[in-house]
Amino acid sequence: MSLTFGWQSPSNIALVKYWGKRDPQLPSNPSISFTLDACHTQTRATFEPGQGIEVTLNGMGTPSFVPKIEQFLGRIQHRHPWLADYHLSVDTFNSFPHSSGIASSASGLSALALCVVDAAQAFGHSLLESDSRREASILARLGSGSASRSLYGGLVVWGQTPTVPGSHDEYAISYPHDVHPVFQDFRDIVVLVDVGQKAVSSTAGHALMEGHPFAAQRFEQAHAHMRALESILATGDLPAFLELVENEALTLHGLMMSSNPSYILMRPNTLAILEAIRRFRTETGTPIGFTLDAGANVHVLFPASAEQSAMPFVREVLAPLAKNSQFLTDRVGSGPVPL
Ligand code: DP6
Repeated sequence: MSLTFGWQSPSNIALVKYWGKRDPQLPSNPSISFTLDACHTQTRATFEPGQGIEVTLNGMGTPSFVPKIEQFLGRIQHRHPWLADYHLSVDTFNSFPHSSGIASSASGLSALALCVVDAAQAFGHSLLESDSRREASILARLGSGSASRSLYGGLVVWGQTPTVPGSHDEYAISYPHDVHPVFQDFRDIVVLVDVGQKAVSSTAGHALMEGHPFAAQRFEQAHAHMRALESILATGDLPAFLELVENEALTLHGLMMSSNPSYILMRPNTLAILEAIRRFRTETGTPIGFTLDAGANVHVLFPASAEQSAMPFVREVLAPLAKNSQFLTDRVGSGPVPL
């Protein structure tokens, strides 16, 4: 019997960063992210008795993706041994351009994990985790750590930390504490600084934390940031929020710059954008800030209530510093939807 399942699943942007891991794909510190909305992947997966994998990306056969999916299936095999008897066809569409430097692993692997969980249930295999969404988060994590957080909307925590009840290293959970309404409608404008440049691969990146001279302090700091966020998020303290989130982004890059080997992934225009954002915030009082991935692009964060003042600034001051003036407009989203 052949069955097809489809899910749309979003990307996410970390506020407290996951940077460092141990086997099997367990984080060295807790992280929290905003789930995004516009940046997402739509995946349809067809399971039929047999062997082998076929993949299309945006309608084109993409054999180069097969090893990545094979690796994912290998890592989840112990939870889903039935997969060994199935041929898998994966048709996947990304809403964002492949060349944009936006990683598709979080959205793509969370969508595929949801399809696998649906298929397991349809074929009558019981799940190791009774909560199917949690099972999908575990599977997504085994594919790519940050993908575990794309299974839920809003603010999502992955990694055990004392101040977040229910937090766990094996799966993500919806942030369980009170969240002020100002954080429920947040914008993320991704300013594309150097779309051609390859960000440091996550495998290489996380490995840099092994033996890093600042590792122990960093992991402690992430717990402290999670603790500090509890009152910041509850009270809607935007200045403290932006300060903490910017500190996390700069710490991530500081860790890369002080690793052995070291990486400088910010470009001159990345710095120009960060400085412009801070200047604009000081001069106008607009609650706007930034975060960074392991790459040169800048995620510009502000609440919906600041849009009137923030968007003209993005268009007039930040976009000219981007490659071909490109930026993507996104916002906090509500998580995966079945297709
Ligand atoms: C800087 O989730 O891509 O974006 O688990 O090796 O697939 P793997 O790593 P990945 O690392 C993400 C690192 C980050 C921070 C974050 O998203 O928390």
